[in-house]
Amino acid sequence: MEKSRNCVQEGSEAVVDLKLVNGSIFFRRKILEGGIAVDNGYIVKVGKEPNLPEADLTLDCTDCFILPGLIDVHVHLRDLKLSYKEDFFTGTAAAAKGGFTTVLDMPNTIPPTNTPENLKLKAYEARGRAVVEVGFLAGLPPTEKDAEELVKLGVFGFKVYMDNKEVKTDISSGSKKLKQLLNIAKKHGLRVAFHAELTSGDYWDINSFLTVHNEECEVKAVETCIRLAKLTGAKVHVCHVSIFKAAEKIIKAKREGVNVTFEVTPHHLFLTEDDLKKLGSIAKTLPPLRKPENARQLYRLVRGGLVDIIASDHAPHTTQEKKESFKEAPPGIPGLETTLPLLFTEVIKGNLPLHLLVRLLAQNPAVIYGFKKRGYIEEGGRANLTVVKRVRWRINPEDFTSKARYSPFKGVEVLAKPWFTVVSGRVVLTKGELTCKPGEGAILLRKNLR
Ligand code: DOR
Ligand code: ZN
Repeated sequence: MEKSRNCVQEGSEAVVDLKLVNGSIFFRRKILEGGIAVDNGYIVKVGKEPNLPEADLTLDCTDCFILPGLIDVHVHLRDLKLSYKEDFFTGTAAAAKGGFTTVLDMPNTIPPTNTPENLKLKAYEARGRAVVEVGFLAGLPPTEKDAEELVKLGVFGFKVYMDNKEVKTDISSGSKKLKQLLNIAKKHGLRVAFHAELTSGDYWDINSFLTVHNEECEVKAVETCIRLAKLTGAKVHVCHVSIFKAAEKIIKAKREGVNVTFEVTPHHLFLTEDDLKKLGSIAKTLPPLRKPENARQLYRLVRGGLVDIIASDHAPHTTQEKKESFKEAPPGIPGLETTLPLLFTEVIKGNLPLHLLVRLLAQNPAVIYGFKKRGYIEEGGRANLTVVKRVRWRINPEDFTSKARYSPFKGVEVLAKPWFTVVSGRVVLTKGELTCKPGEGAILLRKNLR
């Protein structure tokens, strides 16, 4: 039979690439019991099953929720000289396994993503290996020309690590370089993301680590971000806010019209200093895990709809590196394969409304970073879909697809599992198992998103 492309005709003639049936679809803020037809990488129909066309492949979504493809805006895919920690295949396969169709890669690699040459190198490597969609944030470029060129090439924004020596010096001497970058970002409508910590001093164990990376040094850094956003009018995003007081300052600034957004991570919501003291380096991350009361307050902001994004800050290291002394062990927790199970469990338990989960993991990430045609389910939108099933299981890092097979969430019981992950109409996760080949994903460039 001749296949009808790009359109679904009435009657039995029409055949599309794929359909998902028997699911509870998160559609226009409500649950629709039905299915979705996909053709040529786009959603062509959402509706009750009898109204859907025939398809080459049908996915049975019984006991499943069908959500818009989830977007993780804070992922360290590593690769290049750090591919021993993670590479574009293992990192994006971990994303697919965790229900993410789209990820934003961080620039702190070797070499760093802060020049056009380095971005091209990274995109070239990623193109051959990625299995989901990958966009890039650029690091602080050496020159304005580099910044302009990076924008032209299609980065989704910039990421500045404030605790870096060069940046600290710039901030203490009037933020000239940062203001230049923010002005360029503003000109092109891009966002600048900040790792907001301004520390001083050194640490040697858990207690001194918590003293150096104290609450006040994050609050001060967040105040600097807000000031820079006000001063330049650029869009600013604060990564992994871990302090309630800092989050409150951002929320207040936003109410006053400042263009600033922020994300929180599952580990800062569900873990505390006590877990760090119990688990040591496995739970070492920056900013650090905080006091229990602080985590509860952050979670209250999430449930109040006052947080913009939840991001995993997937930061993989080798188990060997994590076994070094506390001082030597690098900070970072792999989060791609635990974020959705942990958060959807909260939905099932009635602690988090489903519409908020979708807003935090799909809609807002798409709007804030400009992932057009993504973040919602609608006819004509990209066929990026996350299907999650009600299943009781325990997090076991030995089963991770990521090279980083450790987790402070080891042994935690969860009630939901990513079941199908559909990226542009291709099924990269089938019944919880990967069904993808390296290079099947796509590199997203902000300039020509389709
Ligand atoms: O814990 C962290 N790990 N925080 C960061 O800011 C960097 C990240 C990494 O790249 O490992
Ligand atoms: Zn990070």
